[in-house]
Formats: sequence, structure tokens, C-alpha cells
Amino acid sequence: MPVDHFSLEAIIRPNILALHPYRCARDDYQSGILLDANENSYGHSIATAVNKKDSYQANGNNEPDLLLAQHLASPLHRYPDPSHPQIKSAYAKLRGVTGIENVFLGVGSDEVIDLLFRVACVPGKDKVLICPPTYGMYAVCAQINDVGVVKIPQDTTGGRFTVQVDKILEATEQDPAIKMIFFCSPGNPTGATVSLSAIQQVLDSPSFKGLVIVDEAYIDFTQASHPGVSMSATILLPNYPNLVVLQTMSKSFGLASIRLGFAFSSPELNQILSNTKAPYNISGPTATLAMQALSEESIATMRDKVQKLIQGRQFLLEAFNEMKQDLGPYIGGLDANFIMVPVLNRQTGKPDNVRAEKVYQAMAETQGVVVRFRGKELGCTGCLRVTIGTEEENKTLLERLKATLDQIQ
Ligand SMILES: Cc1ncc(COP(=O)(O)O)c(C=O)c1O
Repeated sequence: MPVDHFSLEAIIRPNILALHPYRCARDDYQSGILLDANENSYGHSIATAVNKKDSYQANGNNEPDLLLAQHLASPLHRYPDPSHPQIKSAYAKLRGVTGIENVFLGVGSDEVIDLLFRVACVPGKDKVLICPPTYGMYAVCAQINDVGVVKIPQDTTGGRFTVQVDKILEATEQDPAIKMIFFCSPGNPTGATVSLSAIQQVLDSPSFKGLVIVDEAYIDFTQASHPGVSMSATILLPNYPNLVVLQTMSKSFGLASIRLGFAFSSPELNQILSNTKAPYNISGPTATLAMQALSEESIATMRDKVQKLIQGRQFLLEAFNEMKQDLGPYIGGLDANFIMVPVLNRQTGKPDNVRAEKVYQAMAETQGVVVRFRGKELGCTGCLRVTIGTEEENKTLLERLKATLDQIQ
């Protein structure tokens, strides 16, 4: 039975509820002689881009001719489909979600995050709740939209990260201005999944009448640490109209450049997001590539690559473990394509932010390897966040990290 303490009309801003969405002729008609949208009827003028393969190879793209040729063969002078039902249908099928009416497409999940603020939070009045350490864009979007942020830190005891459901619910009880709660699962930068039971407790609580957003950007990397179990909150969607699950093509699918994110929600909220988005937010080239990425063959390849990254993560973990003088045990979970590892002070054996930041800078400036310094995040003192690279990149990282740690003691 769906929860009954939630009313979408009470959560969405009145001006958004009253919105008459922009409609274009293309919402109704997509074929024929298209003279409705002031496009250039002679098409694009890109000359010989098909042959410019070097720059694509430098970016690690191994089939530049084919992909580029497909882009250029598609009708670039036409506005794209405003709603892309085929992508929605293929993606819903992949994730075991009922239908396209549950799927919203954004220009990366970052666009969906911002859109959620815009539809639900009244600037200067409403608030959101986040659980640091967490993905930075929630607070950035809050600030852009003039929305307050209530922080309920995660319990960081022993280098593990757990959301504190009791404190979250206490905060929402005390502050009815809180409209949305963001869970990042697996967490960035923690690499730890939030348990479905914790998420469900918040969804079930009548004291919180707003939306629960579960950001699953890294969900495909959970399989090794949770074999045979789905950690995705999509399973909760049928009973919880107050749930939104975010996913993206930027991580496991390796398509960060095409900017395609997904929100799974109730059909009603999905409709509100669609009414509010820019008319043609998902570009034609993006849609073409997304459809290719969702073919059976591409999905199998994606899964193989995820597997290789998980093996790479294990390889790096074992190597970091051997560097006991300089690196502490990883913190957080192993549910994403990165490892959070503390750099230690050789004298005290304790995590050391000053050394870690110097190592981070020297790695980038003298070794050509860029990782991320996360030592200022709650519970992450001394930490570098290392994205898992290719087999070769991981070996190079290790060599250069060892050299840098010897130089900066
Ligand atoms: C937790 C989390 N959510 C969302 C995003 C943004 O994803 P997208 O590329 O789909 O905008 C990121 C990117 O790093 C992320 O770490």
C-alpha cells in the first residue's frame, strides 16, 4: 500500500502546479515537411569532422569514425524529440521499473537535482536536509536557489559512514520547512551504500511529508560488495510516491560527456518535472548515443567494464595495504569506482591533512596524475579519493604515488 501521509500538491510550489508547460508542434507531429520550428532546412555545415580522429583517440574513444559518422548522419538541423520515449522505455526495462511514465531524463543528474529544487522549494523559505559528507551539488543547488540546508552528519565511527535516521526524523519533525532529503547511495565521497531499511524508515515516517531523493550515480558498482542483492531503491517506487531515485550514464556507462541523467519517480511528479524542464533538454546526439548504449550488446560490455573496474579497485586496495607507513586502511565502503584512503603522518601514524594536500598537489603538478583531496570533509581527514583507472593507469598511479610519498614526508 502506498504511504498516505504524502501529498504531492502540498510539496510542489503553487506556481509550478499552476504551470502551463511550453508545448511545441513537435510534441504532436514529428514527420513530414517540418517547417514549424525555424530550423535550418539545409542542415548542418560541419565539413570534414569525420576525419578528425586524433582528438577523439586522445580522449580514449576507440571508435571515433563510426560514432561521429552516426552523429553527422542524424538530422542535426532538427530539434530533438522533446520527450524521448524510446530511451525511457529501454532504461526502465534495464532497471526493472514499470513504465516510461516513471522516467524523467535530465542533462546529467545534476540538472534533475536543480530541477527538483525549483519545483519543490520556495526560495528564501524552504529547506533541504543533507547528510555530510555527501555530494557537493546538493548544497550548491540549495544556495543557487536560495534554499536553506539542514545538515545531519553521518555517523563516522571507525571510518564507516551511516546515516542517522533518528536524528534526521527529529530534524524534520522540528522543522516543517524541510521539503527534500538527499541520500547519496553509494555515497560520494564515502563509497558506502545507504541501507534500504534506513531509506524506507524515512519514507514511512508521517513526520516527514516531503520528498526523499536517493542519488544512485554509482549503483552499478555495488555488485561485488553485495553479491546477488540489488541495493537500488527503485524497488521501493511502487509504494512510495514520496521517493525519487536518480541515476546517470556518466559512471558505469562511461558516458559523462553526453550528459544524460535519469529520475525515477511517481508519474505525477514526473509530469511536473517534464512541465518544468527546458523544451528540448536532451540533445539528438545524446539520444542517439544513449540508445546505442542501451542495446543488449552495449549493456553486456558495460557490465564487463564495471567488472574490470572492480578488479582494478581490488588491485589498488591490496597495493595500498602494503603501503602501511604512508596510507591508512580505506575508509567508507567499496560500492563505487573509487577508494578513499587516508595519507598518514610517518611520525605519528595518524591521518595528516597537510601531507595529503601536498601529495595531491605534487601528484598533479609533477607526476601528471590527478586524484582528489577530500581531507576537509567530515570523517575524511587526510583522505585522497582515487578513481579506479585502467589497468595501466592504476600501475602508473601506484608508482608515482610511492615516489611522491617518498619525496613528501
Ligand atoms: C553522487 C553523484 N551524483 C550526481 C553526479 C552528477 O552526475 P551527472 O554526470 O549525471 O550530472 C555525480 C558526479 O560526480 C555524483 O558523484
